[in-house]
Amino acid sequence: MGSACCHIRQMSQYGKKFYKTVAITLNDVRNCSSDNLLLLQRKTMNLSDFGERFRGYSGITHLMDDLAEGLAQPGMIMLGGGNPAAIPEVISVFESVIDKLNKSGKLLGALANYDGPQGKTLFLETLAEFFRQQYGWEITRNNIALTHGSQSSFYILFNSFAGKSGASEKRVLIPLVPEYIGYCDVGVEEGMITSQEARIQHLEDDFFKYQVDFDNLQVDKSVGLICVSRPTNPSGNVLTDDECRQLDHIAIKQDVPLLIDNAYGTPFPNIIFNQVNPFWNENCIVCMSLSKLGLPGSRTGIVIANEDVIRFFSNMTAITSLAPAGLGAEIVNQLITDNALLPLCHDLIQPFYKRRCEQAVGLLRDAISSPGLHIHKPEGSIFLWLWFDGLKITTSELYQRLKQKGLLVVPGKYFFPGQTNASDHAESCIRMSYAQSEQDLTRGIEILAEELSACW
Ligand SMILES: Cc1ncc(COP(=O)(O)O)c(C=O)c1O
Repeated sequence: MGSACCHIRQMSQYGKKFYKTVAITLNDVRNCSSDNLLLLQRKTMNLSDFGERFRGYSGITHLMDDLAEGLAQPGMIMLGGGNPAAIPEVISVFESVIDKLNKSGKLLGALANYDGPQGKTLFLETLAEFFRQQYGWEITRNNIALTHGSQSSFYILFNSFAGKSGASEKRVLIPLVPEYIGYCDVGVEEGMITSQEARIQHLEDDFFKYQVDFDNLQVDKSVGLICVSRPTNPSGNVLTDDECRQLDHIAIKQDVPLLIDNAYGTPFPNIIFNQVNPFWNENCIVCMSLSKLGLPGSRTGIVIANEDVIRFFSNMTAITSLAPAGLGAEIVNQLITDNALLPLCHDLIQPFYKRRCEQAVGLLRDAISSPGLHIHKPEGSIFLWLWFDGLKITTSELYQRLKQKGLLVVPGKYFFPGQTNASDHAESCIRMSYAQSEQDLTRGIEILAEELSACW
């Protein structure tokens, strides 16, 4: 018991963040026999600061566990997760490509060999040519590195451009929150993210749109990286070309990279509903992914950046994991070579999500008559962001009540990386996915409407 207390006193800054976990352990200690106590003490590993940072429950781990627990309940409607839809026509395209790769021996070849740390050379060349043709970006394969999915790209990029840097502390600036939940805890050092709440533009028909609040955006020497997702998970916002240009200008002036997370953007998977121009230059790092194309299990991310960043990335991959995965690269290489990737995105994936999105908005408008319902203008991604203005309870409480009724969504407060306290606005919003079946969407929205009518 005494030694457990000691652990708390000795905790590093990272350990304190996980005090809750230790408190639970302490409670266990109070209730346990001496044999079990020995076991518990063994469970208390002596970790470094780095290890402590990732030891326990972060908000996101807690939420994911909670969602998983909810999912295990039979009949639960899952409008909470980020899984892409299983679109039958898209699956059959993947099936035939995999079949073709299998017959040619390339499938086994991808599994039986390590690629170089930058990723499969042939795919890097195909991709560079593809982006040159599509957008006229002047890039070669030396501007592209593959990773184990975008999440691992962010881990490397956040920690390489921010954190302790000599005598100073650099931070990742998120110029507009709400933003992607996955950014919250990737920093090895706590407090690595700083952010600015969005300005709200009210639109017709109770839609609204977030805008970067440039007037209040604090950019100083402590910023080491600027990061945005475009389209944005959770809100479905798409930064305008002008906002991108302004952020690019700020980043160049400050001599820091602008990271654009293009997980839902063009040219693939192309889950974007309005016309904006893709953005890249030597100061930008564009992160792409095969996940929302329908291949999250392939764990493939793509980083497009200047040659220095790519060389650095390649070193990092060699040291931490030897080489990126090759299967997704082989599949998409074949799709590009067969001129099948763009039709897949334009004719199947984008129309599917656009249709689902319109259905979901229609169902919400029919089911919820309160003037307090505002929907973020859906411009892309696979989510709707709902703002329940004037709700009597927080959306964290609403989330628990919905879970009891068989519906999982995600409460808004998790999408504000860099903000210490959840604002009233954060606690008035939820994110819901529209990637699930029409049947689930309809039933889920019925449950939501019933519950809202009881607490508005
Ligand atoms: C905005 C955004 N970026 C990146 C990712 C992660 O992509 P990956 O599966 O390539 O790690 C997601 C996943 O949901 C996302 O929503």
